[in-house]
Amino acid sequence: MNIILLGPPGAGKGTQARKLVDERNMVQLSTGDMLRAARTSGTEMGKMVAAVMDRGDLVTDDIVIGLIREQLESDQGGGGYIFDGFPRTLAQADALGRLLVDMGENLDCVIEMQVDDDALVDRITARSTCGDCGEVYNDNTKPIPADEKCTNCGASNFQRRADDNEDSLRTRLMAYYKQTSPLVGYYYAKGDLRSVDGLASMDDVATSIASALRQSE
Ligand code: AP5
Ligand code: MG
Repeated sequence: MNIILLGPPGAGKGTQARKLVDERNMVQLSTGDMLRAARTSGTEMGKMVAAVMDRGDLVTDDIVIGLIREQLESDQGGGGYIFDGFPRTLAQADALGRLLVDMGENLDCVIEMQVDDDALVDRITARSTCGDCGEVYNDNTKPIPADEKCTNCGASNFQRRADDNEDSLRTRLMAYYKQTSPLVGYYYAKGDLRSVDGLASMDDVATSIASALRQSE
């Protein structure tokens, strides 16, 4: 199956994508992670997008569509792709549709993760991530273990994202409502949209997603 996880910053896209990778052998394609990797490795593109990301604005469609195209061309399909944080504009959605058609693939389901804005601020400002494997933690709901070793890979390399502050989050939310939320209607009209309550516990969200995927199989 090929699916999109759609939702505002902090909705839990990355958290649920990692569960689907473990449980269904799917491949997570997160444009946010790809852009952060480009920054860390110091590529020209990474340098170009750094300030835009820190501010919380969207980087250009050309860049992110190019990143996704490269990944799809390297064909790691497995149990299907999870598009996490992509598409974020109508142009990106159209481009993804074309890329999948070119590969003879379908989009099976778009999961909209519904959350309220107050919860997002708490989630984002309490988040940290394992710099080695990407496991996501939260000071309140999934704290870093007392021995300060990642539960997934054992590393002690926890990081906070540069854009996880209240100012950038406000800009990221604005970008979501202005540029990304029209995709809810776009995919609803195509008959692909399934909505889940992203405010439920991580396990309950995973159960709702599993049931949405069963309906799309
Ligand atoms: P990106 O990395 O995609 O960030 P985002 O969309 O802002 O989303 P986040 O990763 O912050 O949240 P998430 O939904 O993954 O939540 P998570 O699971 O971590 O993008 C970053 C930037 O890159 C963008 O601002 C833009 O500049 C650029 N960019 C990326 N893609 C782009 C594109 N396609 N086009 C243009 N620009 C692009 O969870 C958050 C926290 O909540 C964690 O601490 C977690 O433990 C906790 N949590 C999760 N689920 C639950 C739950 N059910 N209950 C309680 N806590 C929970
Ligand atoms: Mg994420």
